[in-house]
Amino acid sequence: MSESPVLVAENLTKRFGGLIAVNDVSLEAIPRQILGIMGQNGAGKTTLFNTFAGIYKADGGRLLMDGEDITTYPAWKRSIAGISRTFQIPLPIWSLSVSENVQVGLIAHGKSKSDAKRIADITLVDLGLEAKMSSLPSDLTPGQLRLLEFARAASLRPKLLLLDEVFAGLSQVEQRSTAAVVRKLKDTGIAIIWIEHNVRLMMELADRIVAMDHGRKIAVGSPLEIARNPDVISVYLGRQKTAGAQI
Ligand SMILES: Nc1ncnc2c1ncn2[C@@H]1O[C@H](COP(=O)(O)OP(=O)(O)OP(=O)(O)O)[C@@H](O)[C@H]1O
Ligand SMILES: [Mg+2]
Repeated sequence: MSESPVLVAENLTKRFGGLIAVNDVSLEAIPRQILGIMGQNGAGKTTLFNTFAGIYKADGGRLLMDGEDITTYPAWKRSIAGISRTFQIPLPIWSLSVSENVQVGLIAHGKSKSDAKRIADITLVDLGLEAKMSSLPSDLTPGQLRLLEFARAASLRPKLLLLDEVFAGLSQVEQRSTAAVVRKLKDTGIAIIWIEHNVRLMMELADRIVAMDHGRKIAVGSPLEIARNPDVISVYLGRQKTAGAQI
């Protein structure tokens, strides 16, 4: 039997002027599960994350965290409640070392300097960044910058981890170590929601998948159910020529 959900989104809607970027989306994030969010460019995936993390206030719907209504909570309060996220475009503090970048969030969450350093370094080793711990972020490749972004969010051991395209630009080796870290985090009991364009990776790692199109949730199910869903197939195959996506 699966555990009760950490996050419940009910009929979430977010508009930008006349554009409905997230349209009546409901979903649940469950501990020890990876919920994949797939959809083409502009489908509303990052906007959905921003409404979860409190960057945007939803125009409609409700968000419950462990049963508590957090719909109107600001971002910092959601972070304290246990939501942690990566940004699609990494935003390190360029003047601090890679390890210090991870430590900053841990200290803000109440860890001592020595605990913060220990946890930061363990997280960076897990992600294969041990050789770069004392480097500045400007010395990292684009893929490594994404791993640093991932380390900053994951080191906080949140209840709910929101990952926005953390595999983009990674080498095969980096993809493998990152996938291992994602699995390990899930096994510690964290609920993970993960936006990903790489359908192969998504089918391999996700326990359940939500497919979005034009702001709407068009399907939810196991990877196999999603791969066979006629609405998902028509979105992907219908636009394959222009978007180059395959399922
Ligand atoms: N701050 C904003 N102001 C106005 N429109 C926005 C804003 N953020 C996103 N949008 C629009 O909302 C829609 C959804 O964008 P969003 O970034 O959520 O898509 P996405 O699924 O994350 O796409 P991608 O795969 O390219 O990252 C798009 O049409 C986008 O142009
Ligand atoms: Mg996005």
